[in-house]
Amino acid sequence: MKILLTGGTGYIGSHCALALLQAGHSVTLLDNLSNSDAAVVSRIRQLYQPQSAEAAELSFIQGDIRDEVLLERLLSTQRYDAVMHFAGLKAVGESWLQPADYYQHNFNGTLLLASLMQKHQLPCLLFSSSATVYAASATALDEQSPCAPASPYGRSKYFVEAMLKDLQQANPAFSVILLRYFNPAGAHHSALLGEAPCGTPNNLLPFVAEVASGQRDEIQVFGDDYPTADGTGVRDYIHVEDVAQGHVLALQQHQAEPGVHLYNLGRGQGYSVLQVIQAFEQSCGRVLPYRITTRRPGDLPSTVACADKAQQLLGFTARRDLQQMTDDAWRWQQQLQQRPVVQPQLSPITDKATTGQDGVKHEPC
Ligand code: NAD
Ligand code: UFG
Repeated sequence: MKILLTGGTGYIGSHCALALLQAGHSVTLLDNLSNSDAAVVSRIRQLYQPQSAEAAELSFIQGDIRDEVLLERLLSTQRYDAVMHFAGLKAVGESWLQPADYYQHNFNGTLLLASLMQKHQLPCLLFSSSATVYAASATALDEQSPCAPASPYGRSKYFVEAMLKDLQQANPAFSVILLRYFNPAGAHHSALLGEAPCGTPNNLLPFVAEVASGQRDEIQVFGDDYPTADGTGVRDYIHVEDVAQGHVLALQQHQAEPGVHLYNLGRGQGYSVLQVIQAFEQSCGRVLPYRITTRRPGDLPSTVACADKAQQLLGFTARRDLQQMTDDAWRWQQQLQQRPVVQPQLSPITDKATTGQDGVKHEPC
């Protein structure tokens, strides 16, 4: 297949791009680089070593999903078999401060993309949704569990899901795949791809990694009075390479199957903040200082997936455990600090596709 992958140089998008290439699918990355680095394109290329001239191709376009002229031109000139849509904003706390930005990028951006896909009769859209759409629950969340997103970010995901279901109903030939991720964590085992948040990390794992590397003094544990075994928040962490594998399986299964296909991507196993810190201590070989602080507004005590549907219908199993997530996150963190910043040779915007010195084809936009 030939896949357009928005947000393709981001954390999850980059791992999915590599997994798609390795499964034999050609990938065009579209990203405005607002939260990622163009050097990621070269690293995907480095990891993907095509075995033959017939191999899948990788190309990159720097651009914004809200740019109608760009999308119109892209979708009218290229024939994609599916769009995997990762581009968007994702920080829960920031979404309270800048809700309009979240609705602009996440909702309006997706509406424009999906409308143009239908106009040009592209058959399939896979959307990055989130466990934040669910209401609080003391038990594992399955795909039928009630939804009650508790932040503008979560609501932007929930509204996009509802909008895509409406578009699909009006256009029954369309395939919509909704994947609700729980807590993606870790990095590629090569340590060439991973999460590189700008500024202070919002998420637990990247923050712990920066404490482990000495960039920050201590971890703040947001509350130890939750109704959980040790009082700290429990989440269902899933290795980002497993998340990527889930995307390949979902796409291969449903790309040509009209309808709405909804899956959780999790492991079905919860770990507390203190358990994550302990696992990271094993990975980096030192004790990590932490301090218990007040709860973070909007946090739920525990969020754990029921992962049965993806296992039964897609044959998906998240194989990598928490220790592997923290091992890979630590290896990535160490590489991140040592790596010189190398920018790939991006071609100027032209009418012709060109190949940069990094070997990556840059398409016209
Ligand atoms: P990320 O920030 O690393 O990747 C998103 C990418 O989209 C970035 O490279 C950014 O530059 C790009 N982007 C943002 N707005 C854009 C726009 N308007 N046009 C083009 N590119 C744009 O985030 P991620 O962790 O890889 O998340 C990917 C998707 O998965 C997001 O939609 C996020 O909401 C969703 N998700 C993430 C998590 C998580 O914990 N990481 C959990 C659930 C869902
Ligand atoms: N936590 C701390 N200290 C920190 C950061 C987090 O104690 O510095 C705690 C939180 O209170 C929570 C747990 O660690 O109990 C996990 O927090 P994260 O911020 O890593 O993850 P969230 O579950 O809050 O949210 C993440 C992503 C969302 C995504 C969601 C899906 O940030 O984008 O998972 O479940 F939608």
